[in-house]
Amino acid sequence: MVGIRALSKIWLNGRLVPWDDARIHVLTHGLHYGYSIFEGLRCYATARGPAVFRLREHFERFGNSAKIYRMKLPFDRTTLERATLDLVRANGVPEAYLRPIAYSGYGEMGIDPSKSPVEVAIAMWEWGAYLGDEGVRRGVRATVSSWVRMDSRMLPPQAKCAANYANSALAKMEATSAGYDEAIILNSAGMVAEGPGENIFRVKNGIVSTPPASSGILRGITRDSVIRFVRDEGLEFQRTDFTREELFTA
Ligand SMILES: Cc1ncc(COP(=O)(O)O)c(C=O)c1O
Repeated sequence: MVGIRALSKIWLNGRLVPWDDARIHVLTHGLHYGYSIFEGLRCYATARGPAVFRLREHFERFGNSAKIYRMKLPFDRTTLERATLDLVRANGVPEAYLRPIAYSGYGEMGIDPSKSPVEVAIAMWEWGAYLGDEGVRRGVRATVSSWVRMDSRMLPPQAKCAANYANSALAKMEATSAGYDEAIILNSAGMVAEGPGENIFRVKNGIVSTPPASSGILRGITRDSVIRFVRDEGLEFQRTDFTREELFTA
């Protein structure tokens, strides 16, 4: 089953290559040890062509993920931002999801990734709404997961690293195999943290709230945009911890 429709180009280690040539070796270090950091951003159709949503912030977070994981990126932020725009132009689709990724490449094996070369790629493909169009229209069914979000003494939740997504994948599979659309993951203090790939907001009595970064979440860029919209609308907003029952009564 292939859900991805091939586009024309992928940016790989400094140049645009044909889609089918963006391949890696089976002994790529990051594939074995989860040592890759990535981003997920979108470009949207506008009257002036595709517009990438908050490009700078995504590459700032990319750089921070690399720093947290002691990964030395071989390209600076400006180069990666330009590469992203070049890629969007080269592929010529109006709306797409973009996936910059940096990983420990082929050359060495063993736990320590610092001996492996760091490879960087940016791919894009057409991808619908995160939880489907139906989810946007009608909402989704979510369940509290038995899996606990790792805290920053275990793995750094604020780095968008592949290793962190093993926790997300376990929660997601548990939820979908029980017939739900999505999981809600609590942290080790029993407070609501986030979903497997999204932040959570709660609205009660006209007050909008979301867990703080210290709850063990990825500091989402969408979350930041929502906070700005809420404030611009003059709504009351709180960045606060809350328990699961406070979701049930939202
Ligand atoms: C674990 C997790 N939390 C939150 C988010 C939301 O982040 P953003 O709004 O920057 O896409 C994501 C998505 O990247 C995620 O994977």
